[in-house]
Amino acid sequence: MKRVVLLGPPGAGKGTQATGIAEKFNILHISTGDIFRANVKQGTPLGLKAKEYMDKGALVPDELTCDLVEDRIMQDDCKNGYLLDGFPRTVFQAEHFDKFLASKGQQLDDVIDIEVPDSVLIPRAAGRRVCKQCGKPYHVEFNPTKVEGVCDACGGEVYQRADDAEETVRNRLKVYAEQTAPLTGYYKNSGILKAVNGDQTMDKVFADICKALGE
Ligand code: AP5
Ligand code: MG
Ligand code: ZN
Repeated sequence: MKRVVLLGPPGAGKGTQATGIAEKFNILHISTGDIFRANVKQGTPLGLKAKEYMDKGALVPDELTCDLVEDRIMQDDCKNGYLLDGFPRTVFQAEHFDKFLASKGQQLDDVIDIEVPDSVLIPRAAGRRVCKQCGKPYHVEFNPTKVEGVCDACGGEVYQRADDAEETVRNRLKVYAEQTAPLTGYYKNSGILKAVNGDQTMDKVFADICKALGE
């Protein structure tokens, strides 16, 4: 049983590491970005609203995002714990979420901060490809699919995310520095923050996260 948050800038490797970590600890991987993208694809009211912000590299409003996650983690498949990828992303979301958990008699166990310098993040985003069906991230150079354009995991079509255009990536990095980076201070105060160097091979990052989580 573990409730974990994966923190880190766009391109840090949250999505890349999340599947394996969730599998190893037998917890559910929840990515707010993936949930928003699925809603955009289906054209739901939530998707239409989220798209306005995502296309600019801005954050979706806090209340909307908190409601979504707090609803999701109360479902049965989260009983054994979960790995949050991309949430919380503002101090407001973190405080709101802590209060929500406390009201249910729960709390977070670990916050893993994947640290990567900006200079490494731009080429990672530029070369990223993502599966349309299952959301698995690839990279044309650092982690290509076995068959071009086809997801290794599910056979889905692999595409480039609209918000991976260089201008938008730069804005996402700016938004991260301004609105999300302060979260490290917030969680440091709670004593559950563990920093991991994300500028290493994917396997090494995975091993370091497992170690930080106590395995
Ligand atoms: P989201 O989908 O969460 O995007 P993000 O935070 O910008 O993070 P990324 O998915 O870009 O990066 P990642 O860390 O997952 O990196 P990845 O593993 O893919 O959010 C998108 C949007 O949704 C937001 O902008 C916002 O609008 C909205 N949103 C979502 N959550 C929200 C919230 N809580 N509040 C408000 N709005 C919210 O890796 C990147 C690339 O690098 C890949 O190509 C990968 O193959 C490669 N790579 C990974 N690790 C390595 C390595 N060790 N070495 C070499 N290459 C590597
Ligand atoms: Mg991601
Ligand atoms: Zn897939």
